[in-house]
Amino acid sequence: MSRRLLRLALLLVPVAIAVSSCRHGGTRPTVDIGTYLGGQTGLVQAEPVFGAHGMVASNSGLASEAGAEILKQGGNAVDAAVATGFALAVTYPFAGNIGGGGFMNIHMADGRAAAIDYREVAPLAASRDMYVDPATGKLTNKSTLGHLASGVPGSVAGMADALAKYGTMTLAQVMAPAIRLAKDGFEMDSALFRSLRGNKNVLSQFAGKDLFYPGGDAPAPGTRFVQAELAHTLELIAAKGPAGFYEGEVADALVAEEKRGGGIITHEDLKRYKAEWRTPIKSTYRGYTLYTMPPASSGGITMTETMNILETFGPLPKYGTAAYTHLLAEAFRRSFIDRNAKLGDPAFVKVPLEQLTSKAYAKELAGTIDRTHATKTPAFKSGAEPDHTTHYSVADNSGNVVSTTTTLNGGYGSGVWIPKGGFFMNNEMDDFAAQPGSPNMFGLVQGEANAIVPGKRMLSAMAPTIVMDRDGKALLVVGAAGGPRIITTVTQVILNVIEHDMSLGDAMRAPRLHHQSLPDELLVEDGALSPAVSDSLKAFGHTLKRAGGLANANGIMRVKGGWIGVREPRSAGKAVGY
Ligand code: GLY
Repeated sequence: MSRRLLRLALLLVPVAIAVSSCRHGGTRPTVDIGTYLGGQTGLVQAEPVFGAHGMVASNSGLASEAGAEILKQGGNAVDAAVATGFALAVTYPFAGNIGGGGFMNIHMADGRAAAIDYREVAPLAASRDMYVDPATGKLTNKSTLGHLASGVPGSVAGMADALAKYGTMTLAQVMAPAIRLAKDGFEMDSALFRSLRGNKNVLSQFAGKDLFYPGGDAPAPGTRFVQAELAHTLELIAAKGPAGFYEGEVADALVAEEKRGGGIITHEDLKRYKAEWRTPIKSTYRGYTLYTMPPASSGGITMTETMNILETFGPLPKYGTAAYTHLLAEAFRRSFIDRNAKLGDPAFVKVPLEQLTSKAYAKELAGTIDRTHATKTPAFKSGAEPDHTTHYSVADNSGNVVSTTTTLNGGYGSGVWIPKGGFFMNNEMDDFAAQPGSPNMFGLVQGEANAIVPGKRMLSAMAPTIVMDRDGKALLVVGAAGGPRIITTVTQVILNVIEHDMSLGDAMRAPRLHHQSLPDELLVEDGALSPAVSDSLKAFGHTLKRAGGLANANGIMRVKGGWIGVREPRSAGKAVGY
């Protein structure tokens, strides 16, 4: 397809509207693959933004501005990333959080590379079958909705640790914009308004009802939205560090609400929580170096395995062809089979990281790909995730870059809002294999390696990634929201740039595909495949399924004289440069 035709097709792509209320029904939720109000903000609005000195790209314009404010004050990329993270907890409560967890991937211009894992952990009172109804043997919806769905939050510990080790400013300095936004309020925009309205049935069941639906409806666009309790919590964190969250009045409020609603998180859980420093997975692809996230996220291993498989095929066939799409699908199928069976928290299971990320293993797997026939995914023997996460990318004037993905899991997490604390709790427990062998909210079928154990981190798909150019300078900072679609989306954005020579804007707009081995189907965004290519893929044996807005990425790319930032064209957000 010519670039002009491709652009035309893209302009016509209808985008899914994200409402996550359906997943909170009485039965196990179905997958909601929409992104945050993708229907209202069009692909055409995501124009690349240039910044000569630095850049922040996130799903909230106000949060990106908070990060840029810190960069302008002389903060480095880590300072700005932490500022953005706290601001997202105020302006993008859908996924930004202090009641959830995440992963931050850091590359400093002096060559230091680090990753911090602040994933939630299962509470001490959690048990393997806590979500299985003993009467029916079936999974309940308690891993997604309500007090029992939460893991012990990690965001505050992780962001504070990252700042202490790699930042240059104090917590109070970098949190000042977030505190201001919570205390003085911000203008309700139509994206947040519609998102709140769409989730009213769920959120109204919990204590956030009065704040988010005063008078029975979400505050109208244009009105000032103040979060006094959240402002107080942020002030405590700014003054006391993580102790302002994991101890004292915020911890008391959290534990009291857990108790009241039948949750199991205790003071002991909060006191024991620790973020973990990890060594990023370092891999190569045709001369480029990639730093990706190791377990407890599956993102880095699965992306590395996929890209290693693809690299064995030499220059790949052109974007949009049946040959290319088939290779992508088959590579993803193979790496997801490994992911779903073998990965889990490395503190609890032995993860075969070396093997899965080796070029020799990739060559072996590549040898099993038939260029014109889809391999059927075998039924799962041994022994997942949603898209209501959010990713932000930051780059500074010195060439330091930070790639962070954070989440409550579902939109607004478990729906539980902590009175006096002013924040939503995650429903990350659903990322465990609540019943190994059964699909989770994203249809992912996972094994014993990811079964629930007290103190264990649930497997994630988050893949905040940094790509270095052939001269060893940060080239791309990218990641996404979208559960398992994070992995396939980040891989495709990177391939679009370094394999298909697209600009970052085109790479982000280009229609995406997704294959996660089971269900054995290839999800395709509108405009991804011509009718002829679709027919060829069906003839190869693929089951094609249309999908709207597969994932939600925010990326930054180094260009001559500075940085280009692009927010997800399928969603809301903003890249802010200076
Ligand atoms: N909750 C989404 C993920 O961690 O992958």
